[in-house]
Amino acid sequence: MSSLQHLIDANRRWAASVNDATPDFFQRLAAQQNPRYLWIGCSDSRVPANEIVHLLPGELFVHRNVANVVVHTDLNCLSVLQFAVDVLRVEHVIVVGHYGCGGVRAAWQGKPLGLIDNWLRHVQDVAEQHIAFIRSLPDEATITDRLCELNVIEQTHHVGRTTIVRDAWRRGQSLTLHGWIYGLRDGLIKDLGIESDSGDRLKANYAAALEGVFRTGA
Ligand code: CO
Repeated sequence: MSSLQHLIDANRRWAASVNDATPDFFQRLAAQQNPRYLWIGCSDSRVPANEIVHLLPGELFVHRNVANVVVHTDLNCLSVLQFAVDVLRVEHVIVVGHYGCGGVRAAWQGKPLGLIDNWLRHVQDVAEQHIAFIRSLPDEATITDRLCELNVIEQTHHVGRTTIVRDAWRRGQSLTLHGWIYGLRDGLIKDLGIESDSGDRLKANYAAALEGVFRTGA
């Protein structure tokens, strides 16, 4: 017997309950997936993508990494994005950060944690880009929260500057980018106002979303 038998048992119960509610659910899903959304979120175990937005298997294409970072040389993230946009033809790409993100906090504090320091370097770049604002904040908790928001906005901006999204917009494909932040304390999503369905709108809304964070301040 597996030492994870309790998880396998839970899976049996879950599959049975889904099957009870919708008898052809798995057969239909096995035939094809048709998600309308790509979620790019943090790996944090407290931010389970499908559950938060109450979507079923098959409805959300998901990529997660520590601190929801989008790097232009990350083949993993870019492959997910390209497949989602070009093949699955998702209509929305949502970058979702969360308050109290350990990755963002570690990036700001700069304590050595090992290999991951190199990954979090990208979040430190975000902090450095807005260092005057961040230094104006009163305490570490506020800095983490504002940096979590700024990180979502910058990473959403990165999505919009990939060749994948630019090409999709150029050929007239309907594709909207969104930047959200999730509250661990209340389970609620906040839209950070960078929603964009074209390069021009992204440019304008990126600036407006940053202004929104600066206005929130402490
Ligand atoms: Co996180």
